[in-house]
Amino acid sequence: MSSIPSLLIRNARILLPTGEFLVGEVQTLGREIVRVAPEILASDSLPVDKEVDAQGLTLLPGVIDPQVHFREPGLEHKEDLFTASCACAKGGVTSFLEMPNTRPLTTTQAALDDKLRRAAEKCLVNYGFFIGATAENLPDLLEAHPTPGIKIFMGSMHGQLLVDRDTVLESIFAKGDRLIAVHAEDQARINQRRQEFAGINDLAIHSQIQDNQAALLATELALHLSKKYQRRLHILHLSTAQEADLLRQDKPGWVTAEVTPQHLLLNTSAYEKIGTLAQMNPPLRSPHDNEVLWQALLDGVIDFIATDHAPHTLEEKAQEYPNTPSGMPGVETSLPLMLTQAMQGRCSVAQVANWMSAAVAKAYQIPKKGAIAPGYDADLVLVDLDNYRPVLREELLTKCGWSPFEGWNLTGWPVLTIVGGQVVYERGKLNLEVRGEALTFNE
Ligand code: DOR
Repeated sequence: MSSIPSLLIRNARILLPTGEFLVGEVQTLGREIVRVAPEILASDSLPVDKEVDAQGLTLLPGVIDPQVHFREPGLEHKEDLFTASCACAKGGVTSFLEMPNTRPLTTTQAALDDKLRRAAEKCLVNYGFFIGATAENLPDLLEAHPTPGIKIFMGSMHGQLLVDRDTVLESIFAKGDRLIAVHAEDQARINQRRQEFAGINDLAIHSQIQDNQAALLATELALHLSKKYQRRLHILHLSTAQEADLLRQDKPGWVTAEVTPQHLLLNTSAYEKIGTLAQMNPPLRSPHDNEVLWQALLDGVIDFIATDHAPHTLEEKAQEYPNTPSGMPGVETSLPLMLTQAMQGRCSVAQVANWMSAAVAKAYQIPKKGAIAPGYDADLVLVDLDNYRPVLREELLTKCGWSPFEGWNLTGWPVLTIVGGQVVYERGKLNLEVRGEALTFNE
């Protein structure tokens, strides 16, 4: 028998896998959803240890964030797996896929095992870790397990993780069949632009050095290699209109792409308002890029949403560009940001849930995640779509302690988050006893 209390969530507006809503009840037993019904009658009742009255609230599948940088091991002054997972629980993120640019880099089975061990000890939500490609670790890339896939930094520099030589890229695409996820920016183009802008320290040039063309060149190359070898490709944080147009014309069925809330909702005007807090890679673009990315997401050209949660301390961000690190946190704000867009008519709540959960589970072949239905894992988030509250720095749980969206008035804040049938967050309080599980992938 499981020691996990069984839950009965009553009176919730439940998002069904069809995209319709049902006002009713969800029952969990152990880590699983066992019933979804308008009313669970006493005669069919299983034991219930805890009841949740969800009157007026909406129940969605827990968010699966497919691109985060949680900094452990090696960079724990910015974030660690415990603080990051607390922020996830508060943000309705019940599973995450983490990137390999930690110290040491996650480029071997030993480094992957170390992360899995650390996560088992301290993560409040479910976890998976990418294996990072270098110019030398092809055998590790073929063997590593369990992992959602291989991460390649084609540009924007990441020490040994930078794979910008065509021959090395080609050998990675040619061998094996697991998913390759690319940070698509062309390093040669960036180097050349950096020389052209040498001596200028104005932050706004960040988007001109790492320009749309740099992103497009890399995405074109990744797409070319993926087609040549029929290799499963995922394009991380798509940022430009040109890449969206390219994929609209030519996207094989085995290619997927994601976009971040910041590339949909922020643009280069943010540099004037929040300075280096808006600096990230790939950089923020123009309002036109925002619009084209939105349309691509609505049309299914872009498959899902990732935060690219990449925390840096305020002290690090306070240096002068270009000495400042790129990246911004996101797991605590992504769901309310997107649900606010839905409530303001830009998309539907069902679309948001698909982009932030079901479509991710499908792309990474994560079994039993992404839907509220019997037999699925009980990873759930109950949100309040009727209440607007601002993003406040003092309420954030990420160790870096800031958000590029501070002051934004949002709705759809999580009221209660459930991981594997256990309430991990409820109305401002975390249950620090809960631990997530290692995700599995049909590799
Ligand atoms: O802005 C970014 N920061 N983009 C990345 O791809 C990496 C990240 C980081 O790890 O700081």
